[in-house]
Amino acid sequence: MEQLLRNFFLYMGRNGLFNRLAKKYGLRFGAGKFVAGESLESALQTIKDLNAQGMKVTIDHLGEFVHNEQEAFMMAEHCMDALEGMAREKVDSNLSLKLTSMGLDISKDLCLSNMEKILSVAQKHRNFVRIDMEDYAHLEMTFDIYEALREKYDNVGLVIQSYLYRSEEDVQRLAEWRTNLRLVKGAYKESPKVAYPDKKDVDDNFKKIVERQLSQGLYAAVATHDEAMIAHTKSYVKEKHIPLDQFEFQMLYGIRTELQKQLVKEGYRVRVYVPYGNDWYGYFMRRLAERPANVGFVIKGMLKK
Ligand code: FDA
Repeated sequence: MEQLLRNFFLYMGRNGLFNRLAKKYGLRFGAGKFVAGESLESALQTIKDLNAQGMKVTIDHLGEFVHNEQEAFMMAEHCMDALEGMAREKVDSNLSLKLTSMGLDISKDLCLSNMEKILSVAQKHRNFVRIDMEDYAHLEMTFDIYEALREKYDNVGLVIQSYLYRSEEDVQRLAEWRTNLRLVKGAYKESPKVAYPDKKDVDDNFKKIVERQLSQGLYAAVATHDEAMIAHTKSYVKEKHIPLDQFEFQMLYGIRTELQKQLVKEGYRVRVYVPYGNDWYGYFMRRLAERPANVGFVIKGMLKK
């Protein structure tokens, strides 16, 4: 049943019509639990609130289905506005983005030029930009863009998904660039040809890639809500005497907030991923797919409207 619901939400998340309707009618169905409003101002306020609780932030201006050069350009503008806004408000937050929203499906050159503009603004403010990892079809292109950017910029990082068989090799490959990596399990529906179908294998591999990144002396953002993965990371860093400033835990806005606070209390770096913007629908569906139990929020949200 759970798998069925998962597939249903992933399928719904790719539906263009629902996506357009969601943009038109605004944040609803309880999506406000996971999305920090539709404007940059609301996201900045959320960052301030989280910073006041001792948490760092990465913000993501949500955007799916970018069809033309103009839309990609607008998405890049939003990212630059966000970097300027964060610098102006002096908040502790970096930026996360997806290359498809920078025009990757339209042309690599367009995507690269948007990214260079964004990284230049980030560099001016000594800030950092993380490229989220999307589905497997975009993986090689994402690496190509990352490597081209690294020729000129060092304020950019990537994400590696432990559900992919190749992820350990990729961590190794990216060590050449001393890449700041976010390590995740992976959020897309992938074929067993490329990804472990069993959760246990995904979890085992997650631990392996965290260890590999840290043992190479490289920065790791351990992004999970899974207490077993967090406990494993804690005991590994303790055993290997890895300094507390060589890694951080990352969690999504609105998920396991008590655990986020607890980790801060224990002295760990915690960064919350804060999405905002009117294109919230696909993101919201992926969160429901991860944990269909959260569908309770949707029902409550519908009853409120
Ligand atoms: P998993 O789903 O295995 O669940 C383990 C346990 O965690 C559950 O039993 C439950 O206790 C708890 N839990 C998990 N989800 C919960 C929820 N929604 N509500 C309450 N409890 C929950 N993916 C990707 O493909 N590319 C990317 O760039 C990113 N980026 C990213 C950034 C950050 C900061 C995070 C935290 C995650 C991502 N992801 C991602 C998503 C990631 O790949 C993965 O889908 C989710 O984090 C869910 O996996 P977990 O490791 O959290 O645990």
